[in-house]
Amino acid sequence: MSARPLNVGLIGLGTVGSQVAERMLSWGPQLSRRAGVELCLKRVLVRDVAKRRTVEVSSDLLTADPADILGDQSIEVLIEVAGGDEPIRSYVEQAIRAGKHVITANKVVMAKHGPELLDLAAEKNVDVYFEAAVGGGIPLISAFRTDLQANRIERVSAVINGTTNYVLGRMASAGLPMADAVREAQDAGYAEADPTDDIGGFDATYKLAILASIAYEIKVRPDEIFREGIEGIEPVDFRYARELGYAIKLIAHTQRHPGRVEARVHPAMIPLDHPLARVEGAENAVFVEGDLVGQVLLVGQGAGGRPTASAVVGDLIDLARSIRRGVQSRPSFSFDDRIGVVPIGEVKTRAYYRMLADDRPGVVAAVGQVFAEEGVSISSFIQKDAWSHDQTAELVVTTHPSLDASLQRARERMAQLEAVRSVSSFLRVF
Ligand SMILES: NC(=O)c1ccc[n+]([C@@H]2O[C@H](COP(=O)([O-])OP(=O)(O)OC[C@H]3O[C@@H](n4cnc5c(N)ncnc54)[C@H](OP(=O)(O)O)[C@@H]3O)[C@@H](O)[C@H]2O)c1
Repeated sequence: MSARPLNVGLIGLGTVGSQVAERMLSWGPQLSRRAGVELCLKRVLVRDVAKRRTVEVSSDLLTADPADILGDQSIEVLIEVAGGDEPIRSYVEQAIRAGKHVITANKVVMAKHGPELLDLAAEKNVDVYFEAAVGGGIPLISAFRTDLQANRIERVSAVINGTTNYVLGRMASAGLPMADAVREAQDAGYAEADPTDDIGGFDATYKLAILASIAYEIKVRPDEIFREGIEGIEPVDFRYARELGYAIKLIAHTQRHPGRVEARVHPAMIPLDHPLARVEGAENAVFVEGDLVGQVLLVGQGAGGRPTASAVVGDLIDLARSIRRGVQSRPSFSFDDRIGVVPIGEVKTRAYYRMLADDRPGVVAAVGQVFAEEGVSISSFIQKDAWSHDQTAELVVTTHPSLDASLQRARERMAQLEAVRSVSSFLRVF
């Protein structure tokens, strides 16, 4: 064991930070033995030092002045579990410039600024660890950083947002309308008071930006990723999905194309026998395909204070070991700027449409003609009486793979057909 302790500064003492502090304070000897050096929590930055905390932290440790951590040369490691973009991004940058190693759980900062921060860290010869930024407690980043290094990653598909997975699961199993399922998720502590980030697919987009960037070693920005949330899905879609042999999940998907990559986040129908279809509740799962390893599935708790602290403190131990040995244990990434993201219109996918139409002769032919003119081939067709009293029929169509642009044009043109009252749902089929 090294004689000199490793001093750590912590930013954030909320859901994740309190669990990180708790583990460091209550399990110190075990962690230090694994790290080979005493781990000392030297300072904790919060917004409000007077706030009541769920973890007992000596008031001497607490500060509201970032300089107490960033300007303290004896602090070698910054753990950032505060969240959000600014001012946190600039705290991380200042820490790196001051020669501190950084461990962060911040997906927003890593998705938007990760490649620049990693480049800066390489220049300053310090490490940036971010295992907790994607998939909470699931060991994902370390899998890419070390265990899958020998592979050319071909694709990554993930159910990476626990809130939407919980909501979709409740809509499927209990037939709840979305608003009720969201309320239930909030009551169970799975959804924020404002669930837009999750329901709108933003959170999954940040995580996919990080995964795609490290999987292919290119810079994939969140705003380059096609994003669609789960807002438009109705309970009836789950009944049709089941009838057709699918589950509905919010999917984050990236795939290699010649010279480019595909990256998209949207709700999708997934065959019931696909491993991602079986991911339940607030769980996350990431399905990786590498040219050497084949298919790998990583599953676990994607959020929550304790699983996320598991990833943060695991990073700390690994970092402490490499500091003690005086080596950069992790390969640094080099990001290729020349590889772009395929526009969604050029992506080939299958689709599901649900529409309400007049129940009269010629409607099916008119719908079929739109698909034919757009070069989209139909794979299945279901027609059911919706409301027999006013001759409305519900039509459900699934297609063979087509360009997304053609599928969208077909959707717009069908909505304009005189006999079609509405195209109520459009989902991509995985
Ligand atoms: N919660 C999860 O399940 C989970 C899972 C994976 C990743 N993450 C990530 O982990 C990070 C923290 O999440 P959380 O859920 O623990 O958040 P949280 O409960 O809201 O806690 C945030 C903490 O950061 C402090 N803080 C925020 N802004 C600050 C600032 N400008 N200066 C100083 N302190 C500041 C807050 O101080 P006060 O207490 O004084 O307000 C609070 O202690 C986020 O990046 C999040 O995306 C969270």
